[in-house]
Amino acid sequence: MSLDLLTVEHVNISFKNDKSLNIPAVRDLSFHIQQGETVGLVGESGCGKSVTALSLMQLVEKNTSSIEGNIVFEGENLNTFSEKEMQEVRGNKISMIFQEPMTSLNPVHKIGKQISEVLFLHGFATKANSKEKTIEILRKVGIPRAESIVDEYPHQLSGGMRQRVMIAMAMACNPKLLIADEPTTALDVTIQAQILDLMKNLQKQYHTAILLITHDLGVISEMADRVIVMYYGQIVEQADVRTIFKNPKHPYTIGLLNSVPNIYSESNDRLTPIEGNVPNIGVIKEGCPFRFRCQQVHAKCHEHNPSLFKLDSQLVRCWLYEEQGVKV
Ligand SMILES: Nc1ncnc2c1ncn2[C@@H]1O[C@H](COP(=O)(O)OP(=O)(O)OP(=O)(O)O)[C@@H](O)[C@H]1O
Ligand SMILES: [Mg+2]
Repeated sequence: MSLDLLTVEHVNISFKNDKSLNIPAVRDLSFHIQQGETVGLVGESGCGKSVTALSLMQLVEKNTSSIEGNIVFEGENLNTFSEKEMQEVRGNKISMIFQEPMTSLNPVHKIGKQISEVLFLHGFATKANSKEKTIEILRKVGIPRAESIVDEYPHQLSGGMRQRVMIAMAMACNPKLLIADEPTTALDVTIQAQILDLMKNLQKQYHTAILLITHDLGVISEMADRVIVMYYGQIVEQADVRTIFKNPKHPYTIGLLNSVPNIYSESNDRLTPIEGNVPNIGVIKEGCPFRFRCQQVHAKCHEHNPSLFKLDSQLVRCWLYEEQGVKV
């Protein structure tokens, strides 16, 4: 029996703009997440990380977008679920935390009320025991003086504490999958380390799978079991964390790694940023979207967008691996 909790198959996400053209934000995305594992999703701004996360929760605005393909969670295709069916899934089986907790916490309600509502909604607490359960949950995420925090408002807490509250809410119903979109980017380094530790501990305790979205490769190396690298709405490389750091194959992944200190590398080479920017989504119609910034570009890259090639356990979307790899 497969342990896959989530299988994403050939997902395309596009947005309509004023001229009702379809802008392909994510193209032919396929990946899986197993129970209890952490999958890191990395890539530069605008490459489609958040849109991918939102599509798993079916939170991409329906009127202005379309999601094609299968998003299979515990054997059921969420892409066919009604809004009512998705409400059962959100917060209960899959939950999400964001970079800025103030965007998800309601500023006019007390912390305790916000958590107990989640518990109620999914039948994890009754009126009689909700306060007690809420305090218990806040303690689990390391919130000091939880008894008084329940009666405080979000603005009364520090950024790190607010993120702990978000994690408490996300973990309240013991979800199978936690999607964390840049959960620590807004925090300073010490607090960031504490929050990551907390996520790791909760994961161990509850065997939660985590999809961790970040542009910070340091966070990825700390947390992820496997890594998905995205560029221009597509997966360009996928491998276990060690392979990504020790033996990256796609010129974009290599560029990303050269632009940050690499804990797996023994060399003291200077850091080199990748030249140029990600082109606007939808402009490149043919060829490899990375070719304008690629150091190893050749004729074929201008003509055709590469397929994904499988090399042992690694997937790479680059023509350089056409001969060694098997097309998937
Ligand atoms: N509601 C929307 N309508 C139109 N286009 C959108 C919408 N949401 C996202 N996009 C476009 O989809 C692409 C992917 O955006 P997304 O937010 O997923 O990027 P990201 O990888 O999360 O970037 P960042 O690291 O900055 O958070 C971008 O080009 C963005 O402009
Ligand atoms: Mg984002």
